[in-house]
Amino acid sequence: MQNLAIGFIGTGGIGAHHAQGMRAMPGHFRLVTASDTSAQALTRFGESYGITRLHADYRRVLGDPEVEAVVILLPHHLHEQVATEAVAAGKHVLLEKPIARTVAEADRIIQAARTQHRTLMIAHNQRFDGRHAWIARQLQAGALGRLLTARIDHQQNFNPPERSWWRSLDQVGGGCVIGSGIHRLDLLRWWFGEVEEVYAQLQWDAARLEGEVACTAALRFRGGVHAEFLCHWGIHRPTHGESVFITGVDGTFSIDGGEDGRQSLAPHHEHLAFAGPQDPTESMWQHFHRCVTTGATPLTSGEEGRASLALALDVVRSGTLRSAVRTEAQAVLHRAGSA
Ligand SMILES: NC(=O)c1ccc[n+]([C@@H]2O[C@H](COP(=O)([O-])OP(=O)(O)OC[C@H]3O[C@@H](n4cnc5c(N)ncnc54)[C@H](O)[C@@H]3O)[C@@H](O)[C@H]2O)c1
Repeated sequence: MQNLAIGFIGTGGIGAHHAQGMRAMPGHFRLVTASDTSAQALTRFGESYGITRLHADYRRVLGDPEVEAVVILLPHHLHEQVATEAVAAGKHVLLEKPIARTVAEADRIIQAARTQHRTLMIAHNQRFDGRHAWIARQLQAGALGRLLTARIDHQQNFNPPERSWWRSLDQVGGGCVIGSGIHRLDLLRWWFGEVEEVYAQLQWDAARLEGEVACTAALRFRGGVHAEFLCHWGIHRPTHGESVFITGVDGTFSIDGGEDGRQSLAPHHEHLAFAGPQDPTESMWQHFHRCVTTGATPLTSGEEGRASLALALDVVRSGTLRSAVRTEAQAVLHRAGSA
């Protein structure tokens, strides 16, 4: 078993989550160094995980010859710059979602990883949630027969601090759709294939952020499924909630987003004694290890991250234009790009 030396770039909000998921598999990874421009975040991280090679400048992590792979946990406007430099430095990359703010930025990251023959995986961690993976397998096996409709949501009370980058349209590349909804759109694409047309509505709350705070959308998939999507960062409840409802001619799968974040899965209206959910972060890191050590293409490759970003941007574009948007052009570009 190859024990990969990992460098963290960004040790903020999501950093501890990754560190714990990664360290849950002894013998797979060694956390050897980290970088953050916030001395406070970096010191806390170093103390928590016993690392002393701590740098304000991420290039010191990229220049560290022991480091084989980096995880990039940065504001979205830095994803392209740091990810392209990382693969140029010979490092494999696990990059937080969204891959980037624009399709052009995403293309440059993907191209750089291809040129350098490095693994590029996007941290669309919801695909590694045991319940979501179970649904993917069941749908693939035709368990619900011909698929008809779906409903999916993400709801959260998200009010970033005054000077947070999360408030900036430029640094985030949007609002709640690219920030959180992209996880749910990525699941829909995984389960049902590509979207043909979307019609979205957006709402804003300038007291919280510059991008949209809420989005509802109707999506029509090429395969015929119709889906409803809701993403809301302005709800009034203490914990975030996420639910799924999928119906085919032969049954229904649902995941109810509970008040306490716990969820239950009921296939065909029977309660399933479900072994899980396993922590998706741990499974995601396990997958990253396999891809780096065998050269396999990640389930959440750069190309997949790009396609989910393109869909998120189309959703926002539809809401901004207040008209239906056909996504075919993006899909054609995607196919050409990955040919
Ligand atoms: N998968 C999920 O559920 C999930 C949840 C939250 C965040 N995220 C993603 O994780 C990424 C980071 O988000 P976050 O919430 O942890 O943000 P955050 O603001 O909490 O942390 C970002 C960190 O990056 C540091 N930083 C900024 N510029 C830097 C630079 N040039 N070099 C080194 N460090 C720098 C900041 O000081 C900060 O500590 C984003 O892509 C976000 O979308 C994913």
